[in-house]
Amino acid sequence: MTVRRVTKHGERVLKTPCPPLDYEALKAELPALLKDMWATMAAARGVGLAAPQVGLNLRLAVIDVKPEGKPQRLVLINPEIVSLDGEQKEEEGCLSLPGVYARLARAARVRVRALGEDGRPWEMTGTGLLARAFQHELDHLDGKLFVDRLSFEDKLKVLDAVKAAKPNWD
Ligand code: NI
Repeated sequence: MTVRRVTKHGERVLKTPCPPLDYEALKAELPALLKDMWATMAAARGVGLAAPQVGLNLRLAVIDVKPEGKPQRLVLINPEIVSLDGEQKEEEGCLSLPGVYARLARAARVRVRALGEDGRPWEMTGTGLLARAFQHELDHLDGKLFVDRLSFEDKLKVLDAVKAAKPNWD
């Protein structure tokens, strides 16, 4: 198990949409890769991590928002949004944009369909933080960062912080 380097804003892999993942082709490598992703997410104290954030152009993300303080590890392979409802506007951040936080409007309630670690389909409705995590991580798989969704005015407010969050190749 390895804690991997988290890619930062400005790196091409974060801007590149991930093609549909061939589960059978990745199956053998998946357990080891997921262990690394969970370890990397925990080390960075995140609630979600998408494959492009460890430099991989794979349609795969992990989420654990720890509802009521208990682990709830979700593996999302080829996730799709089934439905979106309502609106919430909360502060959002991203491990690929350290130090950048902004309030962003998202749907309040999101139903997602994906394949799990075992390759079987699952569906779940998330609200609150989980709904935001679903939208945030799915955006990563489409090559989008949360700051891309800010209004022009809100983008200006975080511009200095975004510049300061340029890649560091340690
Ligand atoms: Ni992120």
